[in-house]
This record gives sequence, structure tokens and C-alpha cells, in this order.
Amino acid sequence: MAPHQPILAPSILAGDHANLAGSVATIAATGLDWVHIDIMDGHFVPNLSFGPATVQALRRTSRLFFDVHLMLDNPHLYVEAFAKAGANLISIHIEPDYDIPGTLRRIRELGCQTGIVLNPGTPASAIDPVLDQVDLVLAMTVQPGFGGQSFREDVLPKIAEIDAQRRARGLTFRLEVDGGIDLATAPRCRAAGTDTFVAGTSFFKAPDRATFAASFAAL
Ligand code: DX5
Ligand code: ZN
Repeated sequence: MAPHQPILAPSILAGDHANLAGSVATIAATGLDWVHIDIMDGHFVPNLSFGPATVQALRRTSRLFFDVHLMLDNPHLYVEAFAKAGANLISIHIEPDYDIPGTLRRIRELGCQTGIVLNPGTPASAIDPVLDQVDLVLAMTVQPGFGGQSFREDVLPKIAEIDAQRRARGLTFRLEVDGGIDLATAPRCRAAGTDTFVAGTSFFKAPDRATFAASFAAL
């Protein structure tokens, strides 16, 4: 079993974009501690979402743990802005070409936890050099850019591989999945070693969010 209790981190990408504070309040009212905030630049992914000003405005309304996922070609240029805006954890992708170890160090200096993210097609070996620098590894279970896509089950062996690395190296980072996570796919990810679950569409569309959240707590 993974070394951490399961955490459900609803993604406000699937919330009400005209009332994001209300969507964050819905997460808190469900008794959850984390909110996942997807930041897109229109280059690394073919979509746009929120900026630091949005995160800062939400921080004024909420004490939740802000799990900020940067889908940016140049995340090193923005980590300071998101840290100052109130992020608790900042995740950056392994695929673009920039100083990744230096950016992780900078995130930590800014007082935030660190995360590294891999797209479905990126091998686990790509993150080996930075595993001892991170608090969280995020394995994308869809190609990032849009909510509401189908879970990629071909990512499951990679999740198990990252979990095995975690044990072999005695590391304690959280292992998070993002994309197509619901009550059917989450147990499969849990069995592969996941402890942290992003859910956008399935959370906000759940008929009874408290029951939905309780199912994740029991994984
Ligand atoms: C994809 C985003 C995901 C997305 C998940 O680019 O990173 O966080 O919001 O959405 P669902 O749960 O709807 O697949
Ligand atoms: Zn995300």
C-alpha cells in the first residue's frame, strides 16, 4: 500500500468559471482539504485557463491547500507569481526545456511544496533525476489541456513503476493522478500506488458529493 492516506483534490477547471470562489467553497463544504488549480498557457497545451490574479483572489476566500498545476512552456518565469498568489504546492512539467532542478529549488525557496508532472507518453525514467527534490509526482492520465477526457489505462504500469521507485529509494513523495478520475478508475490507480486523486468532471457532476468524497477516503 502507498505510504499516504488518500486525498481527493477536485479540479476547479470543471467548476463554475463565473463563480470560482463558489466552486472552491463547494469543495470546502464537502469536507475536503485540497483544491487542484489548472494553469494553461495556450502553448504547452492548446487551451487557456487561469492566471496568478485568479489564484490570489481565491486565496482571499479560502484556506484550502492550493495544488497548482502549471501547464506552461516556461514555468520558471511564473513560479514566483503563483507562490506569492498563495499556492501551497506548485507542480511543473518535465517535458519542456528549462532548468527543472533549479525551478524546483526556487519553488521550495518560495515556501511551497514541489511537484513534477509527466504526460501520458513520457516514461517514468524522465523524472528519475529529480525524484529526491519533490513532494509530489503527478502522472497525467489524459493528455493535458481539457477536462472531461477518458482515462488512459495504459498509464497504470507507469504509476506502478513510479511507486516501485519510491519504495526502492525510500522516498515519501505523494503520487497523484489527473484526468478521467472517477469511482471506477480511482481504485485501479490506488492499486498501482496512487494516493492523491484529481477529479474535475466526476466531482462537480456527482449527485451526492459527500458520498463521492467518502468513497475516495475509503480507497
Ligand atoms: C487536464 C487537467 C485536469 C482536468 C481533469 O488538462 O489538468 O486537471 O481538470 O479533469 P477531469 O477530471 O474532468 O478529467
Ligand atoms: Zn491538473
